[in-house]
Amino acid sequence: MKSSICLRGQVAVPGDKSITHRAVMFGALAEGVTEIRTETLGRDNMATIRIMGQLGAKVEGELPDLLLHIAKEEGLTQFAKSSDEMARLTVTGCGLLGLQAPGTELDCGNSGTTARLLSGVLAGQAFSAALKGDASLSRRPFKRVSVPLSKMGARFSADLLPLTIVGARTEGQVKGIHHRSEQASAQVKSAILLAGLYTDEEVQVRESHLSRDHTERMFQAMGVALERGVDEEGLAFVMLPAGSSRRLRAASLEIPRDFSAAAFFLVAGSIFPDSELLLPGVGINATRLGALHVLRRMGASIELLNEREICGEPVADLKVSSRKLRGVEVTAHDVVLGIDEIPILALAAAVAEGPTRISGAGELRVKESDRLSTTAQILKAAGVEVEEYADGMLIHGKGSAATLQLPAADLPWKKSGDHRIAMTGAILDLLVSGSYELPDRAAVETSFPNFQQCFAAITRAS
Ligand code: S3P
Repeated sequence: MKSSICLRGQVAVPGDKSITHRAVMFGALAEGVTEIRTETLGRDNMATIRIMGQLGAKVEGELPDLLLHIAKEEGLTQFAKSSDEMARLTVTGCGLLGLQAPGTELDCGNSGTTARLLSGVLAGQAFSAALKGDASLSRRPFKRVSVPLSKMGARFSADLLPLTIVGARTEGQVKGIHHRSEQASAQVKSAILLAGLYTDEEVQVRESHLSRDHTERMFQAMGVALERGVDEEGLAFVMLPAGSSRRLRAASLEIPRDFSAAAFFLVAGSIFPDSELLLPGVGINATRLGALHVLRRMGASIELLNEREICGEPVADLKVSSRKLRGVEVTAHDVVLGIDEIPILALAAAVAEGPTRISGAGELRVKESDRLSTTAQILKAAGVEVEEYADGMLIHGKGSAATLQLPAADLPWKKSGDHRIAMTGAILDLLVSGSYELPDRAAVETSFPNFQQCFAAITRAS
């Protein structure tokens, strides 16, 4: 270990990005005023806020200083300054049938969740809307949502963004669907359920592994009746029964902190020697805990304290302390439950004793970057032996951080444009050199605008 850094103290990670997208979007479709209270939110969530405003919902409130300038860059000028570190939003919903045709294109930026969930909302409208995104989002597959939504009656002008969606009610009605998802994807499932709000017919989605279920939980909290379970083939299913009530009621929603953001600190707290961190109020929804299971199998010490429920979601205070880690097998099941955490888990694997094999992770190739390739590049640049496969990689753990090296120039994580790769690279940098230059600030702000402040508050010379 060349650095003599340890990490100690408490970290308030941002509110859950997935749940915040849903709170804003569902609030906009509800009748009445939905109140949302959260710690820090990123650029992706701001794209959803801007777009729901373009569609006629009123989203106002207050943001902490750090977020006000990012909000302005995202075209959001309606927010006041909050007197503390919390963001408070009020969404005045339009009701399911009250959205208006947007006058201009809807720009989803880097946010796949915004684009895919929104396509479900737009599929149910009686108007057309044009969607676009940044270069990364414009390369990401869209047929996984456009195919089922077309069966429900919407029309899509292209297979990739930018594209125009003609809502099913422009010329007819939204139709029910029985859909079997090829990939376990909460974005696909949620898009179909959102379009399903606009029909009385049965809507059913089946998937091989249960993907994150925040849509199901928030629908239930807002008054939509749905049924869930596992079918005779062992597939997870969710269903809006024929004729069931699909109106969303406004709600008061406190957003749990994001397990995916916490995962960076669970790994850092494990691999920096002599470290102990407490992460209060983090979501521990079972559909998100893949990284927790993998880290525990690697020998990490992570305790869940003070378990409770916020907003229909389980949360806990997470306590992590340093441990020597060992390599493990990471399976397709772990990947579904930790789809966004593989890059930071790969860093844990790089300093663990023995090999870690990650398989069933082909979906990572179509995230904000090709995360199997960008992660392998980072580790190789640090002197780790990595074999990359179509659906995963084999990482030969070095047993400690002592022999990790940092490439002097042209750091691969500084130009990926991918927030999770940028943050993984920053932690590697801190581990090897004892400091880091925040790589790709705009990318990090996608999900974690206060990443640097969080690390600064816990970094100590040991
Ligand atoms: C998300 C679902 C996941 C995840 C993404 C957020 C969501 O994507 O990677 O960061 O909020 O529904 P997939 O549904 O494509 O797996």
